[in-house]
Amino acid sequence: MSKRLNSSLIRLCDLLSDGQWHDGNALGDALSLSRSGVWKGIKKLQQYEVPIHVKRGKGYQLTEPLWLLNPEIIKSDLTIPCECDVFESIPSTNDFLREIHDATFPRLCFAEEQVKGKGRLGRDWYSPFGKNIYMSCSYVFHKDMSELAGLSLVVSLAILEALTRFGIKDELLAKWPNDILYQGKKLAGTLIEIQAESNGATKVIVGVGLNVNLMPYHVTNEIDQEWTSVREITGKMVNRNELAVMLVESLFHYLQRFNVQGFSTLRKDWLEASQYLGKTIEFKNANLSVIGKVVDVNEQGHLVIEHDGKTGAYSAGDTTIIK
Ligand code: BTN
Repeated sequence: MSKRLNSSLIRLCDLLSDGQWHDGNALGDALSLSRSGVWKGIKKLQQYEVPIHVKRGKGYQLTEPLWLLNPEIIKSDLTIPCECDVFESIPSTNDFLREIHDATFPRLCFAEEQVKGKGRLGRDWYSPFGKNIYMSCSYVFHKDMSELAGLSLVVSLAILEALTRFGIKDELLAKWPNDILYQGKKLAGTLIEIQAESNGATKVIVGVGLNVNLMPYHVTNEIDQEWTSVREITGKMVNRNELAVMLVESLFHYLQRFNVQGFSTLRKDWLEASQYLGKTIEFKNANLSVIGKVVDVNEQGHLVIEHDGKTGAYSAGDTTIIK
Protein backbone atom coordinates (compact mmCIF):
# COMPACT_ATOMS: atom_id res chain seq x y z
CA MET A 1 0.00 0.00 0.00
CA SER A 2 1.24 3.51 -0.83
CA LYS A 3 0.95 6.43 1.59
CA ARG A 4 1.65 10.01 0.63
CA LEU A 5 3.85 12.04 2.93
CA ASN A 6 1.80 14.64 4.79
CA SER A 7 3.01 18.07 5.78
CA SER A 8 2.24 17.59 9.51
CA LEU A 9 4.70 14.71 9.74
CA ILE A 10 7.32 16.76 7.91
CA ARG A 11 6.84 19.70 10.29
CA LEU A 12 6.77 17.44 13.36
CA CYS A 13 10.13 15.95 12.38
CA ASP A 14 11.56 19.39 11.58
CA LEU A 15 10.63 20.62 15.08
CA LEU A 16 12.06 17.51 16.76
CA SER A 17 15.26 17.61 14.73
CA ASP A 18 16.86 20.08 17.17
CA GLY A 19 17.39 17.09 19.48
CA GLN A 20 15.60 18.80 22.43
CA TRP A 21 12.66 17.49 24.46
CA HIS A 22 9.33 18.75 23.12
CA ASP A 23 6.14 18.64 25.11
CA GLY A 24 3.05 17.28 23.30
CA ASN A 25 1.00 20.43 23.96
CA ALA A 26 3.68 22.76 22.60
CA LEU A 27 4.09 20.57 19.52
CA GLY A 28 0.31 20.55 19.07
CA ASP A 29 0.18 24.37 19.26
CA ALA A 30 3.05 24.78 16.82
CA LEU A 31 1.52 22.33 14.34
CA SER A 32 -2.15 23.21 14.91
CA LEU A 33 -2.78 19.61 15.94
CA SER A 34 -4.52 18.08 18.95
CA ARG A 35 -2.39 16.15 21.47
CA SER A 36 -3.71 12.93 19.96
CA GLY A 37 -2.75 14.19 16.49
CA VAL A 38 0.81 14.66 17.75
CA TRP A 39 0.77 11.22 19.38
CA LYS A 40 -0.42 9.70 16.08
CA GLY A 41 2.61 11.21 14.35
CA ILE A 42 4.95 9.92 17.08
CA LYS A 43 3.45 6.43 16.84
CA LYS A 44 3.93 6.48 13.09
CA LEU A 45 7.61 7.34 13.51
CA GLN A 46 7.97 4.49 16.00
CA GLN A 47 6.35 2.12 13.48
CA TYR A 48 9.02 3.18 10.98
CA GLU A 49 11.63 2.33 13.63
CA VAL A 50 12.75 5.94 14.05
CA PRO A 51 14.54 6.06 17.43
CA ILE A 52 12.56 8.47 19.61
CA HIS A 53 12.48 8.93 23.39
CA VAL A 54 9.07 9.29 25.00
CA LYS A 55 8.88 10.39 28.67
CA ARG A 56 5.89 11.39 30.79
CA GLY A 57 6.24 15.02 31.82
CA LYS A 58 8.98 15.72 29.26
CA GLY A 59 7.48 14.76 25.93
CA TYR A 60 9.40 13.53 22.90
CA GLN A 61 13.00 13.65 21.75
CA LEU A 62 14.61 12.36 18.55
CA THR A 63 17.98 10.68 19.06
CA GLU A 64 19.19 12.02 15.71
CA PRO A 65 17.80 14.69 13.35
CA LEU A 66 15.23 13.58 10.79
CA TRP A 67 14.61 16.14 8.08
CA LEU A 68 12.04 14.46 5.88
CA LEU A 69 11.86 15.08 2.15
CA ASN A 70 9.75 18.13 1.55
CA PRO A 71 7.89 18.29 -1.79
CA GLU A 72 7.44 22.07 -1.43
CA ILE A 73 11.20 22.64 -1.08
CA ILE A 74 12.07 20.20 -3.86
CA LYS A 75 9.54 21.68 -6.29
CA SER A 76 10.39 25.30 -5.56
CA ASP A 77 14.17 24.74 -5.81
CA LEU A 78 14.04 22.87 -9.12
CA THR A 79 14.72 25.10 -12.11
CA ILE A 80 12.68 22.84 -14.42
CA PRO A 81 9.06 22.63 -13.28
CA CYS A 82 7.69 19.11 -13.12
CA GLU A 83 5.26 16.85 -11.30
CA CYS A 84 6.83 15.45 -8.15
CA ASP A 85 5.15 12.92 -5.86
CA VAL A 86 6.64 12.21 -2.45
CA PHE A 87 5.50 9.13 -0.54
CA GLU A 88 5.89 8.20 3.09
CA SER A 89 5.90 4.55 2.01
CA ILE A 90 5.48 2.84 -1.33
CA PRO A 91 6.33 -0.55 -2.82
CA SER A 92 8.73 0.96 -5.39
CA THR A 93 9.05 4.45 -6.89
CA ASN A 94 9.87 2.87 -10.27
CA ASP A 95 6.66 0.81 -10.19
CA PHE A 96 4.61 3.91 -9.26
CA LEU A 97 5.77 5.84 -12.32
CA ARG A 98 5.36 2.80 -14.55
CA GLU A 99 1.67 2.76 -13.74
CA ILE A 100 1.07 6.42 -14.56
CA HIS A 101 -0.03 6.92 -18.12
CA ASP A 102 -0.50 10.67 -18.41
CA ALA A 103 1.54 12.75 -20.79
CA THR A 104 3.57 14.87 -18.34
CA PHE A 105 7.30 14.28 -18.63
CA PRO A 106 9.65 14.43 -16.93
CA ARG A 107 7.89 13.31 -13.78
CA LEU A 108 9.49 12.53 -10.43
CA CYS A 109 8.66 10.24 -7.55
CA PHE A 110 10.48 10.09 -4.19
CA ALA A 111 9.76 7.89 -1.19
CA GLU A 112 10.86 7.84 2.42
CA GLU A 113 10.50 4.05 2.45
CA GLN A 114 10.16 1.40 -0.23
CA VAL A 115 8.81 -1.94 0.88
CA LYS A 116 9.63 -3.64 -2.42
CA GLY A 117 12.61 -1.57 -3.56
CA LYS A 118 14.13 -3.19 -6.65
CA GLY A 119 17.77 -3.45 -7.65
CA ARG A 120 19.23 -4.69 -10.92
CA LEU A 121 19.25 -8.36 -11.89
CA GLY A 122 16.26 -9.20 -9.70
CA ARG A 123 17.92 -8.06 -6.48
CA ASP A 124 16.17 -6.14 -3.67
CA TRP A 125 17.16 -2.57 -2.81
CA TYR A 126 17.18 -1.98 0.94
CA SER A 127 15.08 1.13 1.49
CA PRO A 128 14.51 1.92 5.18
CA PHE A 129 12.42 4.95 6.20
CA GLY A 130 13.96 8.42 6.23
CA LYS A 131 17.54 7.38 5.60
CA ASN A 132 18.38 7.64 1.92
CA ILE A 133 17.21 8.92 -1.44
CA TYR A 134 14.92 6.61 -3.40
CA MET A 135 13.96 8.48 -6.53
CA SER A 136 12.53 7.70 -9.95
CA CYS A 137 12.10 9.87 -12.98
CA SER A 138 10.04 9.07 -16.06
CA TYR A 139 11.34 10.53 -19.29
CA VAL A 140 10.58 10.25 -22.97
CA PHE A 141 13.50 9.87 -25.37
CA HIS A 142 13.23 10.53 -29.07
CA LYS A 143 15.13 7.35 -29.74
CA ASP A 144 14.47 3.72 -30.24
CA MET A 145 15.42 1.16 -27.67
CA SER A 146 18.62 0.15 -29.42
CA GLU A 147 20.05 3.64 -28.84
CA LEU A 148 19.58 3.54 -25.07
CA ALA A 149 22.54 1.33 -24.12
CA GLY A 150 24.56 4.31 -22.89
CA LEU A 151 21.77 5.67 -20.70
CA SER A 152 22.86 4.04 -17.44
CA LEU A 153 26.35 5.52 -17.94
CA VAL A 154 24.82 8.96 -18.48
CA VAL A 155 22.81 8.59 -15.26
CA SER A 156 26.05 7.68 -13.46
CA LEU A 157 27.57 10.89 -14.82
CA ALA A 158 24.66 12.85 -13.35
CA ILE A 159 25.04 11.18 -9.93
CA LEU A 160 28.80 11.83 -9.95
CA GLU A 161 28.24 15.48 -10.81
CA ALA A 162 25.70 15.91 -7.99
CA LEU A 163 28.00 14.23 -5.46
CA THR A 164 30.93 16.35 -6.58
CA ARG A 165 28.87 19.53 -6.24
CA PHE A 166 27.86 18.30 -2.79
CA GLY A 167 31.54 18.16 -1.84
CA ILE A 168 32.53 14.52 -2.39
CA LYS A 169 35.31 14.91 -4.91
CA ASP A 170 37.87 12.13 -4.62
CA GLU A 171 37.73 8.37 -4.59
CA LEU A 172 34.48 8.15 -6.58
CA LEU A 173 34.23 5.61 -9.37
CA ALA A 174 31.44 4.74 -11.80
CA LYS A 175 31.45 0.99 -12.27
CA TRP A 176 30.01 -0.11 -15.62
CA PRO A 177 27.11 -0.19 -16.14
CA ASN A 178 25.42 1.49 -13.19
CA ASP A 179 27.14 1.58 -9.79
CA ILE A 180 28.71 4.52 -8.04
CA LEU A 181 31.44 3.40 -5.67
CA TYR A 182 33.40 5.32 -3.05
CA GLN A 183 36.69 3.67 -2.11
CA GLY A 184 35.30 0.52 -3.72
CA LYS A 185 32.10 0.51 -1.63
CA LYS A 186 28.66 0.99 -3.16
CA LEU A 187 27.22 4.46 -2.67
CA ALA A 188 24.50 4.53 -5.36
CA GLY A 189 22.86 2.39 -8.02
CA THR A 190 20.56 2.92 -10.99
CA LEU A 191 17.71 0.78 -12.25
CA ILE A 192 16.52 1.69 -15.74
CA GLU A 193 13.27 0.24 -17.03
CA ILE A 194 12.19 0.77 -20.60
CA GLN A 195 8.47 0.91 -20.70
CA ALA A 196 7.04 1.57 -24.10
CA GLU A 197 7.91 2.57 -27.59
CA SER A 198 5.80 4.36 -30.14
CA ASN A 199 6.47 6.61 -33.13
CA GLY A 200 10.23 6.64 -32.60
CA ALA A 201 9.92 7.65 -28.93
CA THR A 202 10.66 5.51 -25.89
CA LYS A 203 9.40 6.02 -22.33
CA VAL A 204 11.94 5.15 -19.70
CA ILE A 205 11.87 5.02 -15.90
CA VAL A 206 15.20 5.92 -14.33
CA GLY A 207 15.40 4.85 -10.69
CA VAL A 208 18.23 5.99 -8.44
CA GLY A 209 19.03 4.72 -4.96
CA LEU A 210 21.61 6.81 -3.10
CA ASN A 211 22.78 5.92 0.40
CA VAL A 212 22.68 9.18 2.33
CA ASN A 213 22.30 8.96 6.12
CA LEU A 214 22.44 5.17 6.44
CA MET A 215 25.03 3.99 8.95
CA PRO A 216 26.32 0.49 9.69
CA TYR A 217 24.36 0.40 12.97
CA HIS A 218 21.10 0.79 10.96
CA VAL A 219 21.80 -2.39 9.01
CA THR A 220 21.91 -5.98 10.18
CA ASN A 221 22.22 -8.31 7.21
CA GLU A 222 19.99 -6.63 4.60
CA ILE A 223 22.81 -5.58 2.25
CA ASP A 224 25.03 -8.29 0.79
CA GLN A 225 27.84 -6.14 -0.58
CA GLU A 226 30.26 -3.55 0.76
CA TRP A 227 28.48 -0.19 0.94
CA THR A 228 28.90 3.31 2.25
CA SER A 229 26.83 6.48 2.56
CA VAL A 230 27.25 10.23 2.19
CA ARG A 231 27.05 10.56 5.98
CA GLU A 232 29.75 7.97 6.50
CA ILE A 233 31.98 9.74 3.97
CA THR A 234 31.46 13.32 5.16
CA GLY A 235 30.94 12.59 8.87
CA LYS A 236 27.79 14.74 8.81
CA MET A 237 24.03 14.14 8.84
CA VAL A 238 22.65 15.34 5.55
CA ASN A 239 19.47 17.26 4.87
CA ARG A 240 18.38 15.19 1.88
CA ASN A 241 16.29 17.94 0.27
CA GLU A 242 19.35 19.84 -0.90
CA LEU A 243 21.05 16.73 -2.25
CA ALA A 244 17.81 15.57 -3.91
CA VAL A 245 17.53 18.87 -5.79
CA MET A 246 21.18 18.67 -6.92
CA LEU A 247 20.63 15.11 -8.09
CA VAL A 248 17.52 15.94 -10.09
CA GLU A 249 19.07 19.05 -11.65
CA SER A 250 22.11 17.05 -12.80
CA LEU A 251 19.90 14.23 -13.99
CA PHE A 252 17.70 16.54 -16.09
CA HIS A 253 20.77 18.19 -17.57
CA TYR A 254 22.33 14.89 -18.66
CA LEU A 255 19.08 13.27 -19.80
CA GLN A 256 18.39 16.29 -22.00
CA ARG A 257 21.90 16.15 -23.49
CA PHE A 258 21.59 12.42 -24.09
CA ASN A 259 18.21 12.93 -25.74
CA VAL A 260 19.59 15.50 -28.16
CA GLN A 261 23.16 14.33 -28.76
CA GLY A 262 23.16 10.64 -27.85
CA PHE A 263 25.97 8.92 -25.96
CA SER A 264 28.79 9.64 -28.39
CA THR A 265 29.33 13.21 -27.14
CA LEU A 266 29.19 12.10 -23.51
CA ARG A 267 31.51 9.13 -23.95
CA LYS A 268 34.68 11.08 -23.15
CA ASP A 269 33.08 12.65 -20.08
CA TRP A 270 32.18 9.20 -18.80
CA LEU A 271 35.66 7.85 -19.44
CA GLU A 272 37.15 10.75 -17.49
CA ALA A 273 34.65 10.91 -14.64
CA SER A 274 34.21 7.16 -14.16
CA GLN A 275 37.89 6.44 -13.24
CA TYR A 276 37.19 3.01 -14.69
CA LEU A 277 39.77 2.82 -17.50
CA GLY A 278 42.67 0.47 -16.85
CA LYS A 279 40.87 -1.53 -14.16
CA THR A 280 41.07 -5.30 -14.29
CA ILE A 281 37.52 -6.57 -14.13
CA GLU A 282 35.33 -9.60 -14.61
CA PHE A 283 32.46 -9.11 -17.07
CA LYS A 284 29.57 -11.55 -16.70
CA ASN A 285 26.22 -12.16 -18.32
CA ALA A 286 23.97 -15.20 -18.68
CA ASN A 287 26.17 -16.64 -21.44
CA LEU A 288 29.74 -15.69 -20.71
CA SER A 289 32.34 -14.55 -18.24
CA VAL A 290 35.47 -12.65 -19.29
CA ILE A 291 38.35 -11.35 -17.18
CA GLY A 292 40.37 -8.51 -18.68
CA LYS A 293 41.40 -4.88 -18.64
CA VAL A 294 38.97 -2.02 -19.41
CA VAL A 295 40.39 -0.11 -22.39
CA ASP A 296 37.41 1.90 -23.61
CA VAL A 297 33.68 2.42 -23.80
CA ASN A 298 32.38 2.61 -27.36
CA GLU A 299 29.86 5.04 -28.84
CA GLN A 300 26.98 2.71 -27.96
CA GLY A 301 28.06 2.57 -24.31
CA HIS A 302 29.38 -0.99 -24.59
CA LEU A 303 32.38 -1.88 -22.48
CA VAL A 304 35.61 -2.57 -24.38
CA ILE A 305 37.82 -5.12 -22.64
CA GLU A 306 41.25 -6.42 -23.54
CA HIS A 307 41.66 -10.09 -22.68
CA ASP A 308 43.60 -13.10 -23.89
CA GLY A 309 45.45 -10.96 -26.47
CA LYS A 310 42.29 -9.60 -28.09
CA THR A 311 39.82 -6.76 -27.60
CA GLY A 312 36.03 -7.14 -27.46
CA ALA A 313 32.99 -4.94 -26.81
CA TYR A 314 30.49 -6.23 -24.27
CA SER A 315 26.97 -5.16 -23.30
CA ALA A 316 24.05 -6.38 -21.20
CA GLY A 317 25.87 -7.70 -18.18
CA ASP A 318 27.52 -6.79 -14.93
CA THR A 319 31.10 -6.23 -13.86
CA THR A 320 33.20 -6.85 -10.76
CA ILE A 321 36.44 -4.99 -10.18
CA ILE A 322 39.35 -7.32 -9.53
CA LYS A 323 42.02 -4.62 -9.17
C1 BTN B 1 21.12 -1.42 -8.29
O1 BTN B 1 22.22 -0.97 -8.04
O2 BTN B 1 20.90 -2.65 -8.28
C2 BTN B 1 20.01 -0.47 -8.66
C3 BTN B 1 19.32 0.09 -7.44
C4 BTN B 1 18.18 1.03 -7.80
C5 BTN B 1 17.34 1.41 -6.58
C6 BTN B 1 16.36 2.49 -6.91
S1 BTN B 1 15.66 3.19 -5.45
C7 BTN B 1 14.51 4.07 -6.42
C8 BTN B 1 14.06 3.15 -7.53
N1 BTN B 1 12.96 2.32 -7.12
C9 BTN B 1 13.30 1.03 -7.06
O3 BTN B 1 12.52 0.12 -6.71
N2 BTN B 1 14.57 0.87 -7.44
C10 BTN B 1 15.18 2.13 -7.79
